[in-house]
Amino acid sequence: MSMQVSNRLSIEGAPVLKTKVPGPKSLEFLEVQDKLETSSRSYTGFFKFALDYGKGSTVVDMDGNVFIDWFGGVSVMNLGHGHPAVIGALREQLEKMTHVTEIPTEARIRYLKTLNSVLPGKMKDNSKILMTVTGADACEAAVSLARFNSKKPTIIAFTGSYHGIAGGIVGATSNYHYRDYAGFASQNYVYAPYPYPYRFSGQSKSEDISKQVITRIEEMITDPYSGVPPVGGIIVEPIQGEGGYIVPPDDFLPMLRETCDEHSIPLIIDEVQSGIGRTGKLWASEHYNVTPDIMCISKSVGGGIPISSVAYRKDFDNIPKAFHLGTYRGNPLGLAAGAAILNVVKEEKFLERVRTKGKYVLNRFEEIQSRSKIIGEVRGKGYMISNEIVKNKEDKTPGTELAGSIRESMFKKGVLMHTCGHFGNVMRFMAPLTIEDDLLDRGISIFEQAVKETEVRA
Ligand SMILES: Cc1ncc(COP(=O)(O)O)c(C=O)c1O
Repeated sequence: MSMQVSNRLSIEGAPVLKTKVPGPKSLEFLEVQDKLETSSRSYTGFFKFALDYGKGSTVVDMDGNVFIDWFGGVSVMNLGHGHPAVIGALREQLEKMTHVTEIPTEARIRYLKTLNSVLPGKMKDNSKILMTVTGADACEAAVSLARFNSKKPTIIAFTGSYHGIAGGIVGATSNYHYRDYAGFASQNYVYAPYPYPYRFSGQSKSEDISKQVITRIEEMITDPYSGVPPVGGIIVEPIQGEGGYIVPPDDFLPMLRETCDEHSIPLIIDEVQSGIGRTGKLWASEHYNVTPDIMCISKSVGGGIPISSVAYRKDFDNIPKAFHLGTYRGNPLGLAAGAAILNVVKEEKFLERVRTKGKYVLNRFEEIQSRSKIIGEVRGKGYMISNEIVKNKEDKTPGTELAGSIRESMFKKGVLMHTCGHFGNVMRFMAPLTIEDDLLDRGISIFEQAVKETEVRA
């Protein structure tokens, strides 16, 4: 692959390691943090360093070490750090005002118009937008909207789902530990199996998986003895994020849409992680030509400024004024960044590059898989790609510790790559969509070295 020289956003030659990682300055910062901040932190265990700044797809720690960033603060930096369009929009807004509650500003109107004009399918230029702050916040408001409109209490979520851990939505997040920690009751959520071809019980052919899942959902909805009270909404990730970058069979979302239509059940599509170009379409649901009734948007839309939004059908807007509240909904900085980001990512040329390069990266991972004993499956769309790590390919026993060790080894070599998955055994590629070719190739080589080293020790 040729190296891109013009318009380069990242630091040349990354990774560059000047000290052992973590270096002495990082250690000092980590020590203070340990003393003063809650022990409820995860990422400081995965990536033990302190950061100074970021540029494109690279970040620099306090000791001057330069890392390739395939982490992006958990898929928030789709345009990378310090993208000129985002910085420009933020600078301009910073001079004007940094907070106002609900009152229209230029940034708010531009964001509303821009977002509306790029929504998927029938939502385009035909939706209402509710401002929220975090991903969980957006999903929670989406569920409230579905329940209010359907007048039915039960929400179907899926195994492997992650929609956040706020009190009203934690029930839709599949890992029960989070509910335990939160101390909130589950609040009328029931679970259907997500079509996860690699691990779908019964080892069905992929064509049958969607059918089995939809049949189960139909039972939940129509059988008075299913044990499920009336269903008032279904919340789904079009490609699962935290669950393991799981791509469902192509017919799954269209079939789910059909079921929702048949029973007048609002379909909530959570694009918090899969949206903003991550999969090579602006929204992952566009791969399947499915229009949501309600859609959750967050993470990369704010380019690092916490904003989120719920877009929904206009006829769902018959809600009371105080249906949803929140001082910080729609921060002007986030909205200014949001419009600028959408304007970059919506371009077909930009998305086409993500699809083409995404295929290249997927193929490179598949080549590594063919030489490896511990990569059970490579899957993904665009730049949402995963390698599922297993102890052996025959029985697919999850390689949770192996994945942890690959992450650690890559970190020590200067590449940030994080895990996900039901068992924390999936290495996920979530590099900025703007990453330069040389950083892709170098990162992939480092991934292969880390896999080889881990395999030898397995
Ligand atoms: C699909 C999805 N929905 C919702 C959330 C929750 O977002 P937040 O962490 O901003 O609350 C996440 C977070 O990872 C997510 O991946």
